[in-house]
Amino acid sequence: MARIRTVVVGLGGRGVWAASKLQDHDEFELVGLVDTIRARSELLVREMNLDALSCFDDLPTCLSSLSCDAVAIFTPDGTHADLVIQALEAGRHVFVEKPLDITADKLDAVIAADQQAGGRTFVGFNLRYAPFYQKIHQLLCDGVAGQILTIQADEFYDGGRTYFRRWNRLRAWGGGLWITKACHDFDLLNWMAGAPPRQIFANASLDYYKPRADASLYCRDCQLLADCPDRYEPSANPKLLEDPDSRGYRMNQVYEQATGQRPDLCLFNSDKDTFDHGVATVTFANQVIGSYTVNVVAGFSDRRMRVSGTKAMIEGHLAGPKLVVRHRDPSRDDEIDIPNEDGGHGGGDTKLFSAFAAFVHGRPTTYVAPTEAAIAVRMGLAARTSCDERRAVEL
Ligand SMILES: NC(=O)c1ccc[n+]([C@@H]2O[C@H](COP(=O)([O-])OP(=O)(O)OC[C@H]3O[C@@H](n4cnc5c(N)ncnc54)[C@H](O)[C@@H]3O)[C@@H](O)[C@H]2O)c1
Repeated sequence: MARIRTVVVGLGGRGVWAASKLQDHDEFELVGLVDTIRARSELLVREMNLDALSCFDDLPTCLSSLSCDAVAIFTPDGTHADLVIQALEAGRHVFVEKPLDITADKLDAVIAADQQAGGRTFVGFNLRYAPFYQKIHQLLCDGVAGQILTIQADEFYDGGRTYFRRWNRLRAWGGGLWITKACHDFDLLNWMAGAPPRQIFANASLDYYKPRADASLYCRDCQLLADCPDRYEPSANPKLLEDPDSRGYRMNQVYEQATGQRPDLCLFNSDKDTFDHGVATVTFANQVIGSYTVNVVAGFSDRRMRVSGTKAMIEGHLAGPKLVVRHRDPSRDDEIDIPNEDGGHGGGDTKLFSAFAAFVHGRPTTYVAPTEAAIAVRMGLAARTSCDERRAVEL
């Protein structure tokens, strides 16, 4: 079968990762790169020896000058719908990162365009492919938990603090953490609950990454540089920040040269209109009650899920990865080992593009369509309103 000639749009952290995965994947042929910062495409072409690749500053120019089958989009969240619509109208299949977009109008527009195109959009909810979540879902479908009563999903993400020096810190670009971050977990809650969400009540606060008078606006100018655990000085904190020898670091340098925007913005003093920890409670149409806790101040990264039903509780954590099923009658525990898959997001990243290839070729596969992906964003919008107005919001 012919390889899927694919263009990657948006060459930041996620797009560079995707370009290298697609380049190595035997069902894809990487044919073009698009980024508004042309120097980023050119750096990647040099570093990955991709001389045959065409580079473009914008998607419309690419689509009118290059033959391709698919467009894969890795730009900031609030740019997704416009790019998806451009690709669909040009007759291409589309892979688009989560979230589908960040406003209700854009969601409606992209759903309409996808329906007009006959359903050619695949939304990249990678956690759906993680064996950990697939096993929980299978156990629930098999009735192991009985009737589901509650679902708890927690996320602790130490890399999340870097959001406060990137576009994710602003609602205008990422919708706030209830959308750019929580859409993953809202999607998981929906999938596990098996019914549409009806009501959300959320509470969130920015308590740690608040302005500090003793710190500067940029790390490199800051008197606290030597001791600050959140400083942008890669060699000082390789766990949190980019390795200075890495491609990501060089991509940041190119970005700074092209835009004048510095990567060392202080996590405390950056302007932001989102939060660093929060909890949302969701009631589903089948009376399941879900909760989601997000915390980006934590010093570790993990996701946890606990589903409690009339017959058993199923619980575990993604970084384990292991599940425990606690049966009620007779009372006993079963431990289920989950295969330790390579790749990010509990192995979900590894399977993502094979699923997209199957989707493009019309083979059976599981995927999240725009109509379903939009539900997670609508939940995020509702959670944001709930926090802003301190009330429960109906969906
Ligand atoms: N599924 C996951 O687990 C996961 C993980 C990380 C990021 N993401 C998603 O991936 C997307 C990209 O995130 P990132 O952290 O790589 O962002 P980034 O800021 O590192 O990179 C975005 C790139 O897009 C380019 N760009 C912006 N607008 C453009 C446009 N209109 N046309 C072409 N290029 C444009 C920018 O110049 C930049 O190079 C986001 O939607 C994010 O939510 C998903």
